[in-house]
Amino acid sequence: MGAADELLAAIRGHGAMPRHVAIIMDGNGRWARERMLPRPVGHREGMKSVRAVVEAALEAGVEVLSLFAFSQENWQRPAAEVSALMSLLEEYIKKEARELEAQGVRVVFLGDLDRLGPVQRAAVDGVMAQTAHNSKLLLNLFISYGSRAELVRAARQIAEDVAAGRLAPDAVDEAAISGRLFTAGVPDPDLLIRTSGEMRISNFLLWQLAYTELHISPVLWPDFGRDELFRAILDYQSRDRRFGRVSA
Ligand code: FPP
Repeated sequence: MGAADELLAAIRGHGAMPRHVAIIMDGNGRWARERMLPRPVGHREGMKSVRAVVEAALEAGVEVLSLFAFSQENWQRPAAEVSALMSLLEEYIKKEARELEAQGVRVVFLGDLDRLGPVQRAAVDGVMAQTAHNSKLLLNLFISYGSRAELVRAARQIAEDVAAGRLAPDAVDEAAISGRLFTAGVPDPDLLIRTSGEMRISNFLLWQLAYTELHISPVLWPDFGRDELFRAILDYQSRDRRFGRVSA
């Protein structure tokens, strides 16, 4: 039995599996720089980690895996890098759609999808439709996403509903906001992992992370795999989650 299998046995033995794991995949650029390679090579390696982590999440029985793949701010990177990331997205869908479908993974893209080019948009819409009936793992891929913009969008929808008389101001509660986010109906993340040692949330799921346990891994995303995911879950299982209350 390898190290990762031992970790998997340990987390299964503990029992309290996080239902929803979110990941800020960081460090592709540094991984490439350390090897004197162009940044897109780091992103390509990062795509392999995405595959490994999806498989590990399926093995562990995680219900929802949310990956921050491309932020709204990432549009401001040099055009060549944006274009490399967009090509990679298309390639990922082309290469993985069949496998994801066979694994029972439902793929959902969340973010401002209108900013995608027509080719990427068609690929994204295609894989979402193709896997919509799956229920073993929900794979949320956040692209062109920013949490503040998501909250602004929800506030605007609420304002419109109030102005049109569909919603009373005193009916605006937490559920009214949650229900207008891209993640409507999905349980909040239990565990957030950020790779490459950075201690920031970076405009990811600000509302949804209110009571999420944080795990910062020093490992750069292209080196993150099955073992690291299981280690993060084991760390999560050692936490005492109180949600603002006292322990039992
Ligand atoms: C952060 O590293 C990573 C990204 C901005 C892109 C994430 C993309 C992938 C993992 C590959 C594609 C994924 C899919 C789902 C197709 P960085 O570039 O900010 O690294 P740095 O901080 O070291 O520069």
